Amino acid sequence: MVDLSTTIAGAHLDNVFFNASGVWCQHEEELQALLESGSGSLITKSATYEHREGNPSPRYLPLPSGIGSINSMGLPNEGYEYYLNYARKFDYTHAKPLFISLSGLSLADNVKMVEAFVQANLPCILEVNFSCPNVPGKPQLGYDIDAMDAALATLAPLIKKPFGIKLPPYFDIAHFDQVAAVVNKYDNLAYVTCINSVGNGLAIDLDTETALIKPKDGFGGLGGLMVLNTALANVNAFYRRLPGKQVIGVGGVVSGKEAFLHILAGASAVQIGTQLKEEGPAMFDRIKKELTEIMEKKGYKSVEEFRGKVKTL
Ligand code: DOR
Repeated sequence: MVDLSTTIAGAHLDNVFFNASGVWCQHEEELQALLESGSGSLITKSATYEHREGNPSPRYLPLPSGIGSINSMGLPNEGYEYYLNYARKFDYTHAKPLFISLSGLSLADNVKMVEAFVQANLPCILEVNFSCPNVPGKPQLGYDIDAMDAALATLAPLIKKPFGIKLPPYFDIAHFDQVAAVVNKYDNLAYVTCINSVGNGLAIDLDTETALIKPKDGFGGLGGLMVLNTALANVNAFYRRLPGKQVIGVGGVVSGKEAFLHILAGASAVQIGTQLKEEGPAMFDRIKKELTEIMEKKGYKSVEEFRGKVKTL
């Protein structure tokens, strides 16, 4: 029997898979479907302090030939109190740990949301999103490394418990080094989730000569298969640079094969966005089966046996 279980920030997951924040997790009914699915865990839509409608539609589209998706959702969410309420009602005897994503539009908003969760003293795990590319006028904090450091200097001591951050993709070795140096400063920063969508791509329809999505003149975050190799590089770069911490891999997972590659690159868990959006939560059973088959064929009994063991030439 193959063991797909893992541990993130001290919490046990029966299998490595869960949703990428943003997909199938804005409302309680969607979260319930994740709870009932074959996933090992679940994470809520990134919350802002207030409820947000998000950007005008069309704001998400799958791209032709299965290469992935473009989105500029603009953080539509119910406001943090909705997710705090969900976390209060959550049955923590359930096998799946609950992750809560927070994406304040300012440090002050992140502080207020974190304080509310800390005060509620719940066994959920906080993941602070430093990498939404889709709010006009709000640059991604993950690309301002000093500002991210300053935010962590405020938030990490407040949170006290192990927590995670969602990072944007980086494309330069110097940036991997600089971000890792910041992350390594905070003992209770237990994991990084790599990667958020590849920000500000542009998809254009050949026939109509028109951008495919409406917000930001058609600019939006790219996800799905086309970002797999960028995601693998970020997972591996941070796996190598963050001893004692963990990496959650996300980006380009459409089958068990890409999940295996994420783990080989160093991922302790694997989140899925575009493919979950397209296929729905039944996807988790398929992908677990596919990963199990690959592991059986290769003779691996647990994910630890090959995690981070990618060979180089
Ligand atoms: O691609 C993304 N879209 N990443 C985020 O962090 C937020 C989301 C949105 O709501 O735009």
